[in-house]
Amino acid sequence: MTGFDSSIPNAVPPAIGVDGAVAAPGAGVSTTYVTSADAVPAGPAWDPGTEHGYDGELAAVLIPAETLQAKITELARAVAADHTYDTPPLLICVLKGAVMFVTDFARALPIPSELEFMAVSSYGSATSSSGVVRILKDLDRDITGRRVIIVEDIIDSGLTLSWLLKNLATRGPAAIDIVALLRKPEAVKVEVDVRYVGFDIPTDFVVGYGLDYNERYRDLPFVGLLGEHMYR
Ligand code: IMP
Ligand code: MG
Repeated sequence: MTGFDSSIPNAVPPAIGVDGAVAAPGAGVSTTYVTSADAVPAGPAWDPGTEHGYDGELAAVLIPAETLQAKITELARAVAADHTYDTPPLLICVLKGAVMFVTDFARALPIPSELEFMAVSSYGSATSSSGVVRILKDLDRDITGRRVIIVEDIIDSGLTLSWLLKNLATRGPAAIDIVALLRKPEAVKVEVDVRYVGFDIPTDFVVGYGLDYNERYRDLPFVGLLGEHMYR
């Protein structure tokens, strides 16, 4: 991406401090900062993977299920408080990673919402500044005049998200907001306004709660760190 694109609704540059820290998003949400020190390591006496059939595969729990659910409730309340539109928000889930999050988020929202799903595939290297994205499954309907909320599992480089914002903006929505459960430090490079962010996490590769490694671990109810021996 080259600079700020004013054609994107809500696309204000994120507030990045001199030290590189990103300012808190919307008034109603405080992003929780999670560090490697917060990880609860697996050990001989306790393996978080065991009861889900992933015995010996996980190194740690980074964000427990209850912590995720409490944050989702907080995010949902903030989004609802900002909803000043006549029609319910249209939640757009980008398959597959955000599927757990969107279902819990919709159930936590104190207002009605509608669900839409998209599937995209990204091409090119993560370092490329022009992420080429192909739509594998498009929205089922028109979003003209609607408040659209992109529900994201994790913002890593943010390239797919930037592309998606531009694409959706051409379809005439009343507004586009983004709710992301997790964000990695690299995301500060993304020049999009992610108003609602649950957790800022370290750059470590995480799995669970929708996030996969080779399609595995999406079914875990928590966010964990994969054992290093599982990468090879
Ligand atoms: P981005 O376009 O670089 O922001 O990549 C976002 C996508 O990469 C997410 O929707 C995930 O599917 C995937 N991803 C990024 N980081 C992780 C991770 O730590 N674990 C699992 N998937 C990840
Ligand atoms: Mg994936």
